[in-house]
Amino acid sequence: MKAEKWVVREHVPGIPDIGRIYEKVTEDLDVHLADDEMLLKTLYISVDPYLQGICMDTPIGDHMGADSIMEVLEAGPRAPHRPGDLVQGFGGWRTHLVSTGEPALWQTGTFPMIFPAYRRLDPRHYDDALPLSTALGVMGGPGMTAWGTLAKFMTVRPGDTVVVSGASGAVGSLVGQLARRAGARVVGTTGSPEKKAHLTGLGFDSVIDYRHGDDGVLEALRAAAPDGVDKYFDTLGGAVTDAVFSMLNIDSQVAVCWQWATQVGKEYVGPRLLPYIMFPRTTIRGIFSIEWFTDENWRTLHGEVGDLVRNGEIAHHETIRHGFDEIPRAYQSLYLDRDANRGKVLVKL
Ligand SMILES: NC(=O)c1ccc[n+]([C@@H]2O[C@H](COP(=O)([O-])OP(=O)(O)OC[C@H]3O[C@@H](n4cnc5c(N)ncnc54)[C@H](OP(=O)(O)O)[C@@H]3O)[C@@H](O)[C@H]2O)c1
Repeated sequence: MKAEKWVVREHVPGIPDIGRIYEKVTEDLDVHLADDEMLLKTLYISVDPYLQGICMDTPIGDHMGADSIMEVLEAGPRAPHRPGDLVQGFGGWRTHLVSTGEPALWQTGTFPMIFPAYRRLDPRHYDDALPLSTALGVMGGPGMTAWGTLAKFMTVRPGDTVVVSGASGAVGSLVGQLARRAGARVVGTTGSPEKKAHLTGLGFDSVIDYRHGDDGVLEALRAAAPDGVDKYFDTLGGAVTDAVFSMLNIDSQVAVCWQWATQVGKEYVGPRLLPYIMFPRTTIRGIFSIEWFTDENWRTLHGEVGDLVRNGEIAHHETIRHGFDEIPRAYQSLYLDRDANRGKVLVKL
């Protein structure tokens, strides 16, 4: 059968130049399935900032990887899922694919990792309040990242000051809301004035307008967090992180979820930060949410965070674009058209 995919043609660092990087290719997909293989059709694709690193590590000519929701069209007798099943996995920018759905080693990058086995989505868990697309958002990787950080590492207590950098995104907005529910005073950063009101509406106590390269973030943070910072959830790095580290309180905790400034903003050098953590006895932990992708944690995420969404106690937002041809533009919008996006950015095929 004919299938379409976006392949990587060039490795371009920094903000994605989609015209140079990606090319759409139509291929003849061999649908003679082995016993353990499935033919899958892609329904939704997630675009995420971390794809910048994935793209740079993708061999030239290979399809672009990405988290996706797929429907199983056909399955060999020993395949893990049956025709009609809905699954979530790292299917990539492809309309159709043949896969065993087994865990896949990603070894071209600086840090070898394993993309988990395709996860069957129980249709009973999804409805108008939590549509299927949320399996890539609040009920998927971003939700698990936020919930997992607070459930497994960060001990947010009433009265804590929690700073979230990149707070308007799918992960940061959830971290902020969950921290607020735990009794914290929550400060967020956003690079878009329009999203200040959005974050305030989600319950953030204070919102700082910061875009990579801006000055004055230390003064703004000091005004927003006059008692120092107890917990810091970081997706930006760079100047925001430099400022926060000078404000850390005793027994503070820092979760490093991403580093926009280094990965995209090319800020490779900064002040030495380790002296700042010595006296406050700060604990810093890297976040790698795949470690929490277990059946038990998915059930808990659906139970705890899913119920909060259903009850209207937590808000989540999605920006859904339409059509296979839109995928690179949707991805680029994370960098160049951010004002228009709210929460998780997806493409529906
Ligand atoms: N470590 C892990 O296991 C893990 C898991 C999931 C996600 N992540 C990473 O965590 C980050 C957040 O994920 P997400 O799903 O919430 O992403 P998202 O929805 O795309 O949000 C990204 C955030 O980055 C901010 N941002 C983008 N460009 C910026 C710039 N030039 N200056 C300042 N801020 C900028 C955006 O802020 P504004 O638009 O408000 O300015 C937005 O709030 C992503 O980088 C993602 O790749 C890591």
